[in-house]
Amino acid sequence: MLDIYLLMSSELLQGRAGHCSSEERPNSARAEGILPEPTRREADLGLLKEAARDAFLSGAAGLQLVEERVRSCLDSEAEVLSSISRYLLELGGKRIRPLLAVLLTKLFGISSYPKSLIDAAAGVELIHMATLLHDDIIDQSPTRRNHPSAFIKFGVSPTLLAGDFLLVKAFGLCAKLDPYIIQATERACIELTEGEVLEGTLADGRRLSLEQYVNIISKKTASLFQLAAGIGAFSAGVTPADLSRVEQFGRAAGLAFQIVDDILDVVADADLLGKPSGTDLKQKTPSLPNILWLESGDPRALEFFSIEQPNRAQCDSALEVLRSSDIIAQSRAVARQHADTAQAALHGLEADTLDLTVRDRLLSLVEYTLERCL
Ligand code: FPP
Ligand code: MG
Repeated sequence: MLDIYLLMSSELLQGRAGHCSSEERPNSARAEGILPEPTRREADLGLLKEAARDAFLSGAAGLQLVEERVRSCLDSEAEVLSSISRYLLELGGKRIRPLLAVLLTKLFGISSYPKSLIDAAAGVELIHMATLLHDDIIDQSPTRRNHPSAFIKFGVSPTLLAGDFLLVKAFGLCAKLDPYIIQATERACIELTEGEVLEGTLADGRRLSLEQYVNIISKKTASLFQLAAGIGAFSAGVTPADLSRVEQFGRAAGLAFQIVDDILDVVADADLLGKPSGTDLKQKTPSLPNILWLESGDPRALEFFSIEQPNRAQCDSALEVLRSSDIIAQSRAVARQHADTAQAALHGLEADTLDLTVRDRLLSLVEYTLERCL
């Protein structure tokens, strides 16, 4: 159990996870008297990190079961499919989706996890893994989590097939479960695919409204968060009204998570991101900072997005403009709104078996999402 906790929490919460710039990292500089004592904001972040760590600890036993279930699905006679799947799994990751599934079961007072929940949560993680394999090919992204992307290491065709393999394994797990889980899984996978197609780029003068942006990230990211949270609550046997509140919680938390992801692409260092920063600018991805920059009417934005293939210097100077503008603060404000919606949905739950400690941990996890660096 400790292993799984260390795997996730070390990545999410320890040394590397200062506030996304260099704000919190240089403890040595502080020891040398170069930096002042921790500010109030850093102290708050420390508390938040502890709360998020507690959330991982609360779910650690369930996460261990999910991890074992995922691993049990990776064997194949075609060795390369197992190798690619294991490679991706070993790269780590926050396991935030299975964590939501197990915590949402615990929230309703269920102390031992039904096998159906573990299978469904493993299914969600397998689907997530499949999307990452495919997404890196689509985005031509050479690195993931500071390592070569699977298609760089193993080739495009085997990686595509490994994604299909994982997806079918996920269906193998979920298809044996309740029709709610089957239908919710199907819906999430369709949304993931739609989101990826709708995303496109900001090339050729394409503009997106905030509403269109939210629709895309709702599909490409929040759909799986909703599924994870929903299967957790469903496994606890909640009322339809509470199930719908939990789904709303998952959806809104997923939106906040993706917006912070977009922000991190601008403000975080490459080693924290596990890939070069400014990738969304370089690829003209409709991330929230990019959309807001274009919306601001800044002529530099129009000029940047009209360059067919911006070079390194052009990307770096665009990144500098974004970093020094108030676009990041505006983006954070949008993330805040969705975090508020997620937290309100949790406060609206009516079950009388609610475990309030778990609810507090989920509330803190949402709060930490806003401040996270990974
Ligand atoms: C990552 O976005 C991409 C997604 C969350 C969705 C990917 C969906 C597909 C590839 C469709 C295929 C669907 C299935 C069900 C296999 P990102 O590029 O913003 O994130 P990143 O920075 O982690 O690459
Ligand atoms: Mg990508």
